[in-house]
Amino acid sequence: MSSRQLPFLDVSAPALVQADRYPHLRYMGSKYRLLPTLASVFEEVGGKTALDPFSGSGVVSYLLKALGYAVTSRDYLNFPVTLAKAACANQGQRLSDEDVRLIVDGGNRDGRDFISRTYDGLFFTPEDLRFLDAAWSHIDRLAGSKRHLAVAALVLAAARKQPRGVFTVTGLRYDDGRAWLHTPLSEQFVACVDAWNSAVFEGEHCLAAQGDVSAAPTNADLVYLDPPYAPPRDDNDYLKRYWFLEGLSDYWQGGTAAVMKGTTTRKLPKRPTAFGSKRTIVSALVAMFEQFRDSTIVLSYGSNAVPDLEALVGMLRDVKGAAPEVVELPHRYHFGTHSRAARREAVEYVVVAR
Ligand SMILES: C[S@@+](CC[C@H](N)C(=O)[O-])C[C@H]1O[C@@H](n2cnc3c(N)ncnc32)[C@H](O)[C@@H]1O
Repeated sequence: MSSRQLPFLDVSAPALVQADRYPHLRYMGSKYRLLPTLASVFEEVGGKTALDPFSGSGVVSYLLKALGYAVTSRDYLNFPVTLAKAACANQGQRLSDEDVRLIVDGGNRDGRDFISRTYDGLFFTPEDLRFLDAAWSHIDRLAGSKRHLAVAALVLAAARKQPRGVFTVTGLRYDDGRAWLHTPLSEQFVACVDAWNSAVFEGEHCLAAQGDVSAAPTNADLVYLDPPYAPPRDDNDYLKRYWFLEGLSDYWQGGTAAVMKGTTTRKLPKRPTAFGSKRTIVSALVAMFEQFRDSTIVLSYGSNAVPDLEALVGMLRDVKGAAPEVVELPHRYHFGTHSRAARREAVEYVVVAR
């Protein structure tokens, strides 16, 4: 199987300059560092409409919008979709200083305390937890893009304040001395509103909706597929790492979510996905390629995952009737639960099936 190196789009290209404004969220498998390659591939593929059904941090959807595509972003979790609503579907709304003042200094409008009660002594200080309850008492009154921006800022602030951005640990065991870890959440929230406000720009009509990839629409010119692959060791469970952000994105379904009270962290229950197990991932990939056979498929893949590249290329060849093109680039992973595994050099591929 042959692969080629693609010339990177110049980092001064307007779409990459715009993409650089996207706020940085630490997210397992996010493609911030691959944007120049992806931009080159997307430019070469062309088309007007794009689907990003595993949108995650939202940065690739945002790049596609910056390149002029009308993008539909989806994810099976709610918080990634909220980020895409704030930065992609939103074409021009921003939170004003007055909106922010009310959320930060307006007190707790209705006395709600779900977060303070449920997460007392975990993750954040009592002051931070009170802030999250009070902030939501105001955000609940916002609608549309302003609401998505405010929630996106809460999510980003909470992720930045949590060591390594994951909610599998409760203490400051991984305290790396970053000031963010010790800044009150309310202050971080204000900075995060600025970050999202600055990312807003007008482009083609974009949509974002929560749902499984199998229910995604099939009429896009270009479909960017970045599913979770099964690492040989470890797992690829997003909810296990980011459940606090998921709860925060809709105030734990208005305080009704099924919190697992018997667990140390009071996390949310596992949400099954066919991509979460080595038993089901192969048939899920085959079904997904069939689903999008009429679009140009651009697939991201890392070399330390299961199934291997050859198997993926074979599946795409079977569906499309021609061998896909493989673009290769070196990529250093920063994620993983074991530090040695996290630093292992992996090769990142982009597979283009027309
Ligand atoms: C590798 S990440 C995507 C990263 C993204 N491209 C970025 O740059 O941040 C995979 C995403 O797939 C989502 N996911 C997992 N199973 C899914 C399913 N069955 N349908 C839709 N999304 C799913 C996860 O929540 C996660 O956000």
